[in-house]
Order: sequence, then C-alpha cells, then structure tokens
Amino acid sequence: LNDFYTLSNGIKIPKLGFGTWQVPDGDVAYHSVSLALKNGYRHIDTAAAYKNEASVGKAIRDSKIPREEIFVTSKLQSHIKSYDEALKAFDKTMEALDLEYLDLYLIHAPWPWNEIGKDCSVGNVEAYKAMEKVYKEGRVRAIGVSNFGPKELDNIINNCEIVPHANQIAFFIGHNQKETDDYCKEKNILIEAYSPLAIGHALSNEQIQKMAKKYKVTPAQICLRYCIQKETLPLPKSTHESRIIENTKLDFEISVKDMKELDKIDDDPRKWE
Ligand code: A2P
Repeated sequence: LNDFYTLSNGIKIPKLGFGTWQVPDGDVAYHSVSLALKNGYRHIDTAAAYKNEASVGKAIRDSKIPREEIFVTSKLQSHIKSYDEALKAFDKTMEALDLEYLDLYLIHAPWPWNEIGKDCSVGNVEAYKAMEKVYKEGRVRAIGVSNFGPKELDNIINNCEIVPHANQIAFFIGHNQKETDDYCKEKNILIEAYSPLAIGHALSNEQIQKMAKKYKVTPAQICLRYCIQKETLPLPKSTHESRIIENTKLDFEISVKDMKELDKIDDDPRKWE
C-alpha cells in the first residue's frame, strides 16, 4: 500500500489506487473516498464523466491528510477534442475538486463514448496539447491518456512533445491487453488497470478461485496482486469498508508458473475491444 511506481518524469505514484467509477456523487462518493483514505489509500482516481469530483474533492480536503501525500487523478471527458474546450474543462475539474493542483490528468478515451472507434486523431492531439500547457504551468504533475491502443498512442507521441506518463485501460485476469501492455512498457508509459476485478466478474472464475485457495487469499486479492506483478497499477473500487480493506492486503507473491497460468485465462465479460 505504501509502495510506489515512478513515472517517466520522476513523479512517484502509489502502486494501488482507489477507483470511483460508478460511485454516485454525494454521500456515497464522499463516504467511500473517506473510508479509503482512512484505511490507508493515498491515490484516488476520478473523472469529470463520473460526476463525483465535488464529493471526491471534499472527502480529500476534509481528511486533513496533507495534500502532497495524496495522488489525485482526473480525466478530460471523451467528447472534448479541442484545445480551448480542453482548457476550459480542466478549469471546471479543478473548480469541482477544489484542490490547488492535480497529480495526473488523462484524456478519458480516444473517441467519444457514444462514437466508439471514430477517428479523432486531430482532436486528440489538440486536447493533449492543452494538457501539455497546464502541465508546464505546474497545475498538474503528470499527463496521459486512457483507453488508448498503440495506434492512438503513436498519434500522440508523433505529434506532441511529452510522451504520455500513463495509459489507463481495462486490465484484468482474462483481459490483459498484451499488445498495449508491451507497447507501453517499451515507451515507459505506466499502465493503470481499471476494472481490475472485471467489475466483479473475475471473482466467480473457477481458476481464480482455485488460485485464491492455494495462496490462502481471496479471489479479489489474486486479481489485484496479478496486476501488480504485471507492473500495472490496479484501481479497484468498492463502497464496502471490509472490501476496501481486503483490497489493500496484497503482501504475497504469485509464483512465475502460476502467473503464466493466469495469463492464459481468456475471460472478458464485456468484449469491448
Ligand atoms: P461493491 O462496490 O459493492 O463492494 P472493479 O474494481 O473491477 O470495477 O470491480 C468493482 C466491483 O467489484 C464492484 O461491484 C464491487 O462491489 C466489487 N468488489 C470490489 N472489491 C471486492 C472484493 N474484495 N470482494 C468482492 N467484491 C468486490
């Protein structure tokens, strides 16, 4: 829990983050983030699209934990693909969070969620250039993308100045995105794993359950430990304190042989790629 990855610009990022996708704004988001902080998480992942930035920000401020001890990520909405609009969206995010600076800002997706697959290469470069501007101004400590594959990453790298520091993708046992993972490792782009439990689906996978028994841990812990051993950064979410705690207990080692077994599992409930 207190271990870090180092981004390519030298910034340290806690190896485990707390995800807030589908955590409703208001009391639920406020309490979940407060519980996460109380139980030792120091990395919170939100997005403008989750519509819970205000509650997330409030929980962070109210925790009284020094700001520099918490790593906060937010994301630019997927439909915003121009320089000026991206700058405005960043201001709005900062206003909602009500924090002095952000740690990581990501383009949420290469295309608007309602037009998956659309070619937005020009717009992505524009949006990313706006992020480079706020990065250079010191308003955000690192920048990157989310849901990008090698082709979309190439577009950014070939047309922008700063190689993305992170790429947040759906990554879990059964869907380990080998091509994107290899690409990112080669370019020193940290992979952040969202839905590391396959939105809960992985927990009923028999092979994962068997592995959990073998290591005397829970299926969720196998899933999260797998991400870490693949050198990705898992962002589990839960609104239950016992699970929030369970998801931090990852101090065990899956053997190389068992990691290979887990690599072989092909089980993606969403089939989104
Ligand atoms: P809940 O929020 O009710 O605890 P993912 O992180 O892959 O998106 O998965 C999140 C889903 O998995 C949520 O439905 C969450 O439910 C559930 N979940 C999170 N942690 C655990 C855990 N340790 N054991 C069982 N279910 C969990």
